[in-house]
Amino acid sequence: MADALKIGIAGLGTVGASLVRILKERHEMLATTCGRPIELVAVAARDRSKDRGVDLSKTAWFENAVALASEADIDVFVELMGGAGDPAYSSVKAALERGIHVVTANKALLAKHGIELAGIAEEQGALLNYEAAVAGGIPVIKALRESLTGNTVSRVYGIMNGTCNYILTKMEKEGLTFEACLTEAQRLGYAEADPSFDIEGNDTAHKLSILTSLAFGTAIAADDIYLEGITNISIEDIQAAADLGYRIKLLGVAQRTESGIEQRVHPTMVPYDSVIAQVDGVTNAVAVESDILGELLMVGPGAGGNATASAVLGDIADIAKSRPGAQHVPAFGRPTTALLPYKRARMQSHEGGYFIRLKVVDRTGVFANIARHMAENDISLESIMQHSKHYADPAEPKTIILVTHATHEAAVRKAIVSIKGEGYLVGEPQVIRIERPKDW
Ligand SMILES: NC(=O)c1ccc[n+]([C@@H]2O[C@H](COP(=O)([O-])OP(=O)(O)OC[C@H]3O[C@@H](n4cnc5c(N)ncnc54)[C@H](OP(=O)(O)O)[C@@H]3O)[C@@H](O)[C@H]2O)c1
Repeated sequence: MADALKIGIAGLGTVGASLVRILKERHEMLATTCGRPIELVAVAARDRSKDRGVDLSKTAWFENAVALASEADIDVFVELMGGAGDPAYSSVKAALERGIHVVTANKALLAKHGIELAGIAEEQGALLNYEAAVAGGIPVIKALRESLTGNTVSRVYGIMNGTCNYILTKMEKEGLTFEACLTEAQRLGYAEADPSFDIEGNDTAHKLSILTSLAFGTAIAADDIYLEGITNISIEDIQAAADLGYRIKLLGVAQRTESGIEQRVHPTMVPYDSVIAQVDGVTNAVAVESDILGELLMVGPGAGGNATASAVLGDIADIAKSRPGAQHVPAFGRPTTALLPYKRARMQSHEGGYFIRLKVVDRTGVFANIARHMAENDISLESIMQHSKHYADPAEPKTIILVTHATHEAAVRKAIVSIKGEGYLVGEPQVIRIERPKDW
């Protein structure tokens, strides 16, 4: 049997501790499948005294993750601390500069520094593997980077944040408010004490930026993403969506258009009977549409210690099985020098269907006036309906719900501005984009 693959792990939290346990429990099995043992030789975390439920008495302890990456006698540095800044950035960079392979689950780091780090990996002949960084245990990176080689991707989209999907699913199934479902998600450990990064869509945006680069061969453009979170979604929206044959999901979507690439994260109405609409709770899903294969949909656990550790382990096993001196798959599917500049398509030119919910004062002619503003902006309507539990009470605002055929974002925004100018709206209009799977 070949020499052991020596690994060092920085970060022993949810993912790191699961990985250490699995490496110990499956030592023999891994040695057989990989053709060599995988030995954990060094670890780093902040607090040495913390009980992590695993025996680390024979493993070297580093107080400092950068020192582990720079000095330890290892073949692979596994970064499981998180965060785009230090020590994650400096430790990964230090390891790659020594020609040490890196495995990380850190989407924030890759969204910010991924291309720079991939460049160092290439120069040094090292691998930068990050399957766990997007959609946890689902092997979406490998699918895009390797299995779909030769395909031209037209769209990649998915449910990539379990916290948001849990909240939206619970709102729909139990008729509870956003706030009540968020509190429950926090109680169950599905949402952080400060959930803003998840519910505002930033986490999905980080993951989407990585998928965009892999799907379209472009440099990562994480700051160039249209972003809307789910805090604005009400139970009324969810019920109206269900009445119309849709469910609301927070989707990250990257799409090739004539004017460039659209990257957007926003609440989205998807057809009720589509497969992606059935993805409930903390489960993730990623769909890829490409010219040779057609549509590929991957569904699975997007988070959790074991699911994420499974993806990290797969990356480590790939390194264990690789032959010394063999040509490596570039981190983003093609050499960094061959990545195309990212050309952004403006959100104003986005084309698709829209759901618009308006609260209006009960006045004669409002319905017709709304329809006129839509027509003046060339927006063709699939349906327009009035909803109210208080038809008899003229003091109560009425709800008008419109669903458009495919139109442009600019036209919808312009129509909304004109409608706002009429003075009959109560509160802000709700606008939710509709996304349909291919051929739907
Ligand atoms: N949890 C998931 O389900 C999941 C899913 C997909 C991807 N990920 C990614 O996986 C990575 C790890 O996530 P996690 O949930 O396991 O995080 P976590 O539970 O918060 O653990 C973080 C670990 O990093 C250590 N750490 C933090 N700052 C450090 C520092 N300055 N120096 C040394 N060690 C430091 C902590 O040490 P102490 O324990 O001593 O405090 C802890 O062991 C993140 O990039 C995350 O985005 C996680």
